[in-house]
Amino acid sequence: MNLFSPITLGDYSLRNRVVMAPMTRSRADAQGVPSDLAAEYYSSRADAGLIVTEGTGPSPSGMGYPRTPGIYSPAQIAAWRKVTEAVHARGGRTFLQIMHVGRIAHSANRTIPDPPVAPSAIRAAGEMWTDAKGMQPFDLPRALELTEIPSVIAEYAEATRNALAAGFDGVELHSASGYLPNQFLSTGTNKRTDAYGGPIENRIRFVLEALEAMIAAAGSSGKVGMKVSPGMPFNDIGHDDPLPTYVALAKAIAPYRIAYLHVMRAGIGAETVLREAFPGTLLVGGGFKNDEANQALGEGRADAIVFGSTYVANPDLVRRLEKGAPLNEPDASTFFTPGPKGYTDYPVLA
Ligand SMILES: Cc1cc2nc3c(=O)[nH]c(=O)nc-3n(C[C@H](O)[C@H](O)[C@H](O)COP(=O)(O)O)c2cc1C
Repeated sequence: MNLFSPITLGDYSLRNRVVMAPMTRSRADAQGVPSDLAAEYYSSRADAGLIVTEGTGPSPSGMGYPRTPGIYSPAQIAAWRKVTEAVHARGGRTFLQIMHVGRIAHSANRTIPDPPVAPSAIRAAGEMWTDAKGMQPFDLPRALELTEIPSVIAEYAEATRNALAAGFDGVELHSASGYLPNQFLSTGTNKRTDAYGGPIENRIRFVLEALEAMIAAAGSSGKVGMKVSPGMPFNDIGHDDPLPTYVALAKAIAPYRIAYLHVMRAGIGAETVLREAFPGTLLVGGGFKNDEANQALGEGRADAIVFGSTYVANPDLVRRLEKGAPLNEPDASTFFTPGPKGYTDYPVLA
């Protein structure tokens, strides 16, 4: 088994085990509508087994960064349709990553005046980029009322319906990187004393309900995946003892039979622990290059490998991996800048 072995993932047969990681690229407009360049960017990478899109907001309340896309307005859905058509025209498969940022937001990046929401009213330490005012401290979030949590869960269902209407093959619940679901999972950000906070079975409840809503909206668990990043401190997401929480989560979602669980490696060995705890398809990402990726698949440590920054720089990554060709280096200075530079202009092999 290697990167080029086909795989069944949920409802789909993929032609290889090379997965393009979800990556925010900040090329959408101020209303969260993907640019025309997005179709070119994604379709030029369509020979991946699966493309997971950049994190995409389910609602205005779920947005926090400048120029990131949404999946709640007709204009956004229409723009995404151009992306899925271009990817499908090249025989690719693509899932939309649904990303509700929770407290990782600043008002200058949002289209609504309401403060961001989170499990608890705890401001994230640090700053984020705004186009209007440069670097700014994160906004202080408002704690979600118990009675309004169902409406946030409903946003995930609506986003799922919209993604499928836009032609996506499925959706990924972003429960990693310090965003809203991760804020519910983590002891540092979730100080609730109701059914959504405290013991592990309460802290995983939001994620389970979001996943259930997405599966119901998609009409099939084989069209829904989830990403986690146990132990990753990004976005000030402190967690006392993360592994037991993620093991409990993996066991709780096993009966759902989702398309995959995607684990981003963060140095605490969660990918090994979750391989044991989770009986379904496991995607692993974080710092993989060719040799280690094939080794991990050969040893059964993962079912497919997720490539992030390497995919930014190498639209023809699958071909380069097949040939053992050298890889272009990603330029981090253009990860989040508008326009084609560093987005659609990386060279492909002759
Ligand atoms: C420019 C950039 C943007 C990213 N945006 C997202 C995102 O929107 N959603 C997400 O889940 N992860 C995001 N990530 C993390 C990647 O999905 C991936 O987990 C990480 O880069 C590790 O893989 P790598 O070492 O192959 O790059 C981003 C990474 C990069 C480099």
